[in-house]
Amino acid sequence: MNFFLINLLTLLLFRSSSVSCIGSRYLNILSALPLGPYKLNFKQVRICDPSKFYKLQHNFYLSYNPITNSTVIRGNTSSIIPFEDTLFMEANVASRGADGNWKDNTYMQKSPKACSSFRNLMGAEWTTVMNGLGIKNATCPIPPGNYTGTGVDTSLFLNTNFPKTFVYGTYRLRYSYTRNNEVCTCLIYVFEITPL
Ligand SMILES: *[C@@H]1O[C@H](CO)[C@@H](O)[C@H](O)[C@H]1NC(C)=O
Ligand SMILES: *[C@@H]1O[C@H](CO)[C@@H](O)[C@H](O)[C@H]1NC(C)=O
Ligand SMILES: *[C@@H]1O[C@H](CO)[C@@H](O)[C@H](O)[C@H]1NC(C)=O
Ligand SMILES: *[C@@H]1O[C@H](CO)[C@@H](O)[C@H](O)[C@H]1NC(C)=O
Repeated sequence: MNFFLINLLTLLLFRSSSVSCIGSRYLNILSALPLGPYKLNFKQVRICDPSKFYKLQHNFYLSYNPITNSTVIRGNTSSIIPFEDTLFMEANVASRGADGNWKDNTYMQKSPKACSSFRNLMGAEWTTVMNGLGIKNATCPIPPGNYTGTGVDTSLFLNTNFPKTFVYGTYRLRYSYTRNNEVCTCLIYVFEITPL
């Protein structure tokens, strides 16, 4: 995937103030892509390397909630370090091509201040998400410990600061928290973005 499209995805994912900078060149590209309001269907979540010890480890799995007809992220978190702003939040997204093969590094982002960045991304749903993960009275930083909650219904992500439109397709997200060269958390999410 070319650099231009990576920039475009960056704009879409981190709309914030940069959106006002979208020029007519971007808008032409935008209208050419299969993009729009979407449904987010989670297909898989797993630890990057199950044999590795992560200092802040999410043991997540997906389950189905028939009442809301949506997927729920369940499981527990076990950490020996605080979740705080000295960590970086890193996302590396691969997209599945028409040939069924993954195209790596479709989109990459490294944000400082992991805890605040995650809170900003969750927006209005921050408290609900953190409660679902078993973290009561969530503020940054989150102290180390063992947390188990009732789960996070993925349908509520549509009410967060996730982009309102996205390029349709199947994606594999490698999501991590890092500090210096150390990976403290690492999860792989596979999800589909389909038209609403
Ligand atoms: C549940 O969700 C699936 C996938 O989004 C959809 O195809 C199906 O129609 C939904 N079922 C109900 C009862 O809403
Ligand atoms: C956390 O989840 C893992 C994987 O499902 C499980 O083996 C472990 O027992 C759980 N820990 C707690 C404290 O619930
Ligand atoms: C929530 O956390 C803050 C900061 O750690 C603390 O001052 C406050 O008392 C806590 N509130 C409750 C209800 O636990
Ligand atoms: C979390 O659970 C592990 C393993 O069960 C235990 O060794 C550790 O002390 C717990 N940590 C806290 C902060 O309770």
